[in-house]
Amino acid sequence: MKVLITAGPTREAIDPARFISNYSSGKMGYALADACVHSGLEVLLISGPTQLEVPINCDYIAVESAQEMYEAVEQHIVDCDVAIFSAAVADYTYKTPATQKIKKKEDSLVLELEKTKDILGSARNTFNFTGLLIGFAAETEKLVANARTKLEIKGCDLIVANDISRKDSGFNVDNNQAYLITSKTEQELPLLSKKALALAITQWIKKRLS
Ligand code: PMT
Repeated sequence: MKVLITAGPTREAIDPARFISNYSSGKMGYALADACVHSGLEVLLISGPTQLEVPINCDYIAVESAQEMYEAVEQHIVDCDVAIFSAAVADYTYKTPATQKIKKKEDSLVLELEKTKDILGSARNTFNFTGLLIGFAAETEKLVANARTKLEIKGCDLIVANDISRKDSGFNVDNNQAYLITSKTEQELPLLSKKALALAITQWIKKRLS
């Protein structure tokens, strides 16, 4: 059985020196890759830039931008039985990245952003993926309700909902507090290490595959 996992942040270029990104460290996605490898699944990790070591026995594709992540997923998802989208993909990218460093001239600078492609949202309709589809929801309010909407709109089998307004959970820390949400069930997990949460998600996958 083969699992595709997206992880980490994306970087959207402004000019050769600057980019738009977010606080994702990749820890959640890499913990998932490690847990999946250890439970006997074949893993392809598609990751934005992180400081982490790639877990052993994983196939790995390094990407930078949301568009690069989209293209890597588009190319490989058809070969996979499970896809887990834990990456914090930029929702907007800079429309016209400068080829030269932007000089400090005016008092204010307006950057026009345009929407990136929704990679998870493309899995069912555009990539025709029929395997087990797991998304994440990073929310600061109405955690469960917003996550449930994402579950339905994006055609997921499971959404892992985490509250990113907490200091001890979510972005760039070792722990995460999450809900596992399906169309019929909702399980609130305690604050766990990302390794333990990854294990819980992997166990959910194994149960669904068996
Ligand atoms: O990397 P860490 O520091 O360990 O932090 C972990 C995490 C907080 C990044 C992770 O647990 C998490 O919540 N990942 C999802 C972050 C996110 O972008 O959530 P979202 O609610 O904005 O997006 C919903 C889903 O759509 C996610 O599965 C996301 O990967 C996917 N998405 C979003 C936008 C886009 N253009 N393409 C996507 O595939």
